[in-house]
Amino acid sequence: MLVTGKEILEHAHKHNYAVGAFNVNNMEIVQAIIEAAEETNSPVILQASQGGIKYAGIEYIAALGKVAARKAKVPVAIHLDHGTDFEQIMLCIRHGFTSVMIDGSKYELKKNIELTKKVIEVAHAVGVSVEAELGKIGGTEDDITVDEKDATFTDPDEAKLFVDGTGVDYLAIAVGTAHGVYKGEPKLDFDRIKILKDLLQIPLVLHGSSGVPADSIKKAVSLGINKINIDTDLRVAFTQAIKDFNKKDPDNIDPRKVLTPAKEAMKEVIKEKMALFGSAGRA
Ligand code: G3H
Ligand code: ZN
Repeated sequence: MLVTGKEILEHAHKHNYAVGAFNVNNMEIVQAIIEAAEETNSPVILQASQGGIKYAGIEYIAALGKVAARKAKVPVAIHLDHGTDFEQIMLCIRHGFTSVMIDGSKYELKKNIELTKKVIEVAHAVGVSVEAELGKIGGTEDDITVDEKDATFTDPDEAKLFVDGTGVDYLAIAVGTAHGVYKGEPKLDFDRIKILKDLLQIPLVLHGSSGVPADSIKKAVSLGINKINIDTDLRVAFTQAIKDFNKKDPDNIDPRKVLTPAKEAMKEVIKEKMALFGSAGRA
C-alpha cells in the first residue's frame, strides 16, 4: 500500500526502530526491494535521486514506484532523494511521490530554512512529507559531491532553530557518515545523535549508510535514527552478481538470465538490512 513517508517514520520514531530507504533506478531494483519487504514484513521507502530520475525518466520511476506500492502487502513510500531543485521537487509531487527531500545543505542556515519552508508549504498542502538536511555529509551521491574537508557535522543549536523554523517532518543529520565507498571505517558521533534526538524529537535520517558496520548502525538506531539511506551496497551487490554470472556463463545473452541473480543478490542485502534496522516484522 502506498503511504506517506511521515506515516512510516512517525511510527518508527515512536517505537525506536529504523526503516530502510533504498535507491531505485530500474524495475529489478524496485522488485528486489518490494520482495524483501514482503518477505520480512517490513515497511519500506523507495527513493529516487535526481540522477535516478534523469536515467529512467520521471514517468517510468513514478509508475514503477506506484505499481509496486499498490501491489505490495506492506506500507511503501515513494521519496525523492537529495532534491536540490524546486521545479524537480514539484514535478515529483505532481507524479505522485509521497515524500520529498529538499537538500539545501550547501547553503547557509538562513537560505536553507527559506528554501525548505518554500517546499514544505506546497508539499504539506497536498499531503506530501518533507525531509531536509542540515550539516554537510561528505562523499559523492550521483551529481552531488562534498569534499572531505568541506564536510561539517550538524550543529544542535542550528538544528533546533531549523526544525522550529521550518516544521520539517524528518531531518538528515551529518554525524560522520559519507556517501559512496568508505576508505577506512566510518566513525560515527553517537553523542551528537543522542543530543539531536533529545532536542528535536522528530525522526532522524542517516545518509551514506552503506559500509557502516552493523554494530554502529544498531547503536545509531537505538539513539534515534529512523530512516537509513542505502544506495552503494545495492550497486555493489548488483554489479558483482552480473560479473559473477558473466564469468560462469559468458555466452548467455538473455537479459532476464543476467539480471535475475543481480536482483536476488540485492534482495539478500536488503533483507539483512531490514533485520538490522529493526523494521522487519513492523508492517
Ligand atoms: O541518499 C542516499 C544515501 O545517502 C546513500 O548513501 O550510497 O553511501 O549508501 P550510500
Ligand atoms: Zn544521501
